Amino acid sequence: MKKILAATALAAALWAPAAGASSEAPTPPSVEWSFNGLFGTFDRGQLQRGYQVYAEVCHSCHALSLMAFRNLQQIGFSEEQVAQLAAQFEVQDGPNDEGDMFMRPARASDHVPSPFANEQAARFANNGAYPPDQSLIVKARKGGSDYIHGILVGYRDPPPEGVTLNEGMHFNDYFPGHQIAMAPPLSDGRVEYADGTEATLDQQAKDVTAFLTWVSEPTLEERRRLGISVILFLIVLTGLLYALKRQIWSDVDH
Ligand code: HEC
Repeated sequence: MKKILAATALAAALWAPAAGASSEAPTPPSVEWSFNGLFGTFDRGQLQRGYQVYAEVCHSCHALSLMAFRNLQQIGFSEEQVAQLAAQFEVQDGPNDEGDMFMRPARASDHVPSPFANEQAARFANNGAYPPDQSLIVKARKGGSDYIHGILVGYRDPPPEGVTLNEGMHFNDYFPGHQIAMAPPLSDGRVEYADGTEATLDQQAKDVTAFLTWVSEPTLEERRRLGISVILFLIVLTGLLYALKRQIWSDVDH
């Protein structure tokens, strides 16, 4: 009994700091993502719009180093479209015959080039803060997609009364500590969508978050499909084994 009490007290003690931290940064609103739940799938149109937002807005600061342009074919871009999208970026290649490195338009097989040469250059351009690589950011942050979307829509200008911001910082409801070095990257109409979707702040935030979720976990749909088939198989197998058991024992008195 004493042991149980001690364990409960320990659990309570461990829980307390976590509860404190979550009241510090409120939980971001939960979005009804198309990929939520066991049967959820990505919306290809949304992923393509999200790529556009990344390429036109976020890429000027955030790298996406784990994604090769050819991966974009998986979200419904054709081979020609991918070649065109890649060619809008420049990558370093070489050395050439004279031993020099040179820049050339990116190809489908290239990875998305980083916007800065190194971390120091990135920090220098961003008031000392480092814009993290976005390849795995949705997996790396507590709250995942809801958190990323929350950050994008969670700015408050002016900040709530009584809050003094440090120089170059912005108030954000969902960023831990509330002071974020990233200026609000999105606002209504920041990009123009080719498919006619209205580019509100919330729409762009959702689209780019869905895209980054796909980048973090491109095999989410296959993984779930496999899981469902395994469970179906196990159900059928259980039925078969049960029928077999009844058959085998049918002429034994019991
Ligand atoms: C002008 C540069 C710039 C642009 C453009 C920009 N960001 Fe940022 N971003 C930053 C910096 C700098 C930080 C680090 C902030 C900090 O640590 O205070 C950051 C942080 C973030 C974070 C918080 C990460 C964390 O550590 O929890 C998210 C999410 C994010 N950016 C998403 C985006 C998205 C999505 C876009 C495009 C719509 C974008 N950013 C565009 C500079 C930028």
